[in-house]
Amino acid sequence: MSQAQFTPRVFSGIQPSGDLHLGNYLGALKRFADAQDRGVQSLYCMVDLHAITVWQDPAKLRHATRELTAGFIASGLDPEKSILFNQSQVPEHTQMAWIFNCVARMGWMKRMTQFKDKAGKNAENASLGLFGYPALMAADILVYHATHVPVGEDQKQHLELTRDIAAKFNHDYDVEFFPMAEPVIEGAGTRVMSLRDGTKKMSKSDPSDMSRINMTDDADTISKKIRKAKTDPEPLPMDLDGLEGRPEARNLVNIYAGLAGMSAEDVMRDMGGRTFSEFKPMLADLAVDRMAPISAEMGRLMQDTAEIDAILGRGSERAREIAAPILAKTYEIVGLVGS
Ligand code: TYM
Repeated sequence: MSQAQFTPRVFSGIQPSGDLHLGNYLGALKRFADAQDRGVQSLYCMVDLHAITVWQDPAKLRHATRELTAGFIASGLDPEKSILFNQSQVPEHTQMAWIFNCVARMGWMKRMTQFKDKAGKNAENASLGLFGYPALMAADILVYHATHVPVGEDQKQHLELTRDIAAKFNHDYDVEFFPMAEPVIEGAGTRVMSLRDGTKKMSKSDPSDMSRINMTDDADTISKKIRKAKTDPEPLPMDLDGLEGRPEARNLVNIYAGLAGMSAEDVMRDMGGRTFSEFKPMLADLAVDRMAPISAEMGRLMQDTAEIDAILGRGSERAREIAAPILAKTYEIVGLVGS
């Protein structure tokens, strides 16, 4: 059997572990919304069980899960068209993850750079959940037989592991049951860097709030953060090659391209030769224009958390309808007795 047997299906997830930022928007949410009308069934998951691999305050986790859902909707995702749900309401994810814990090898997991980054020097004290995180991620994807996974650059290694797990399962049980899910990492927004250091990715764990634009920031804050973003003294070069060795300049060009829906080449054609005192206000205006209405809409949606919970409940039911038969078939392949 070839991979062609799998109906195209999109899956992606975001952790509700604190402030959503411009990297999540350009690398994930905006791209999900742009793809919404392509007619492919799409599932988007608030991965709350991934979030608790590091300590989360329970009240903050609840708030962040709802706020993330509001972020999806405010970014243009329609819960009627896409399935929006939270991971913990679909127990098939953890059931499949156990099977994959038994397929994935210790050596594979030890190579995961994100575990090494997150666990830091004190890996002995990291949770077992943090170590096994990528097996749960593979389960998220494969329990739906998803074929396409839109993510930012930083998730590439986890998706390679997902393919390794699918291939080993198929090989060990002599089946063609799981698809080789394709990472979809396209466009200028897939690697948004810190506004304070163009060599570090924009991240919610950076201690400096000035390093990122949060999706809940208001217009003045967005504008201030862009005006204060680190740059070098040279004007923008005339083409992309001229950005070599200038990570902060390259990042601001990429952010402009992502927000405007343009390629970085086109931005250089329009902006090449401008100084940062000209370019930054233009970027700030664009960022405010695109992000401030999303922030306002998230605030509005958060006034009715019962409605958000109802959306997650309905989405979880729809997700289970797809996941349950795939899990049942997996159990059967593995030899687990059921009725
Ligand atoms: P998370 O929650 O860290 O990030 C969510 C999405 O945002 C992207 N992203 C970025 N893109 C560009 N520039 C940045 N600075 C930036 N920071 C974050 C991430 O690449 C991601 O697409 N392990 C995943 C969540 C997950 C998942 C899944 C994703 C769990 N299961 C199954 C896809 C499929 C994570 O921690 O993403």
